[in-house]
Amino acid sequence: MRRLLICLLALWTGLVLAQQPPTVHKDPFRGDTAFSDSARPPPLTGAENKDLKRVRSYAMQPPTIPHSIDNYQIDRFANKCMMCHSRVGAGESQATPISITHYTNRAGVFLADVDPRRYFCDTCHVVQMDVQPRVASTFEDVDAVVRRMRADAAKAKAQGRGK
Ligand code: HEC
Ligand code: HEC
Repeated sequence: MRRLLICLLALWTGLVLAQQPPTVHKDPFRGDTAFSDSARPPPLTGAENKDLKRVRSYAMQPPTIPHSIDNYQIDRFANKCMMCHSRVGAGESQATPISITHYTNRAGVFLADVDPRRYFCDTCHVVQMDVQPRVASTFEDVDAVVRRMRADAAKAKAQGRGK
């Protein structure tokens, strides 16, 4: 009897679940496309090539690349980026030389040339594009946070004096 009841309960649950409409997952990149279908991505826009540096969002952000890097070879034979961004190359190109972190290995030792961990520049640095973020963000620059805290502190002080 008990076994029969359990079987009936399982059957009933199965029937109820089968009648539920499938959950629709929304993903900003896929839009309404179902998981079983391939989304058609928006066409790529070209890299900005204006030589204008963008402000870094935080001190340790890898700066975005303010120039196009089409057909720049980075493989075991050559690293085009280092032609201009190495310590020596910067003299002629006037590019920002890669910082000391790029010459430091994981033991903290400073090397003569770029550390292999930093060899493939485009794993961290991306070209700038004129596009809007696909996902909303409430990120605030630390400068804005500090300014707000200072203003709040000044207001609190002024109110204290008023009493
Ligand atoms: C022909 C020389 C040249 C080559 C090759 C080159 N760059 Fe540059 N890069 C520059 C110059 C010059 C600047 C300074 C801004 C400008 O003039 O565009 C710069 C700026 C940058 C910056 C911004 C630095 C900052 O301080 O904000 C990054 C990041 C960068 N390049 C990365 C790369 C990467 C990655 C590659 C290879 C895929 C590369 N560059 C190849 C010349 C070069
Ligand atoms: C593992 C991630 C990573 C890789 C790979 C990498 N970088 Fe960076 N890069 C950073 C970060 C993070 C910063 C900002 C902090 C710093 O200087 O370390 C930076 C800073 C820079 C800067 C600005 C330096 C300055 O003094 O302001 C330049 C130029 C640059 N990188 C070029 C390159 C080039 C060229 C390569 C390839 C040879 C490369 N990076 C590889 C993460 C990376």
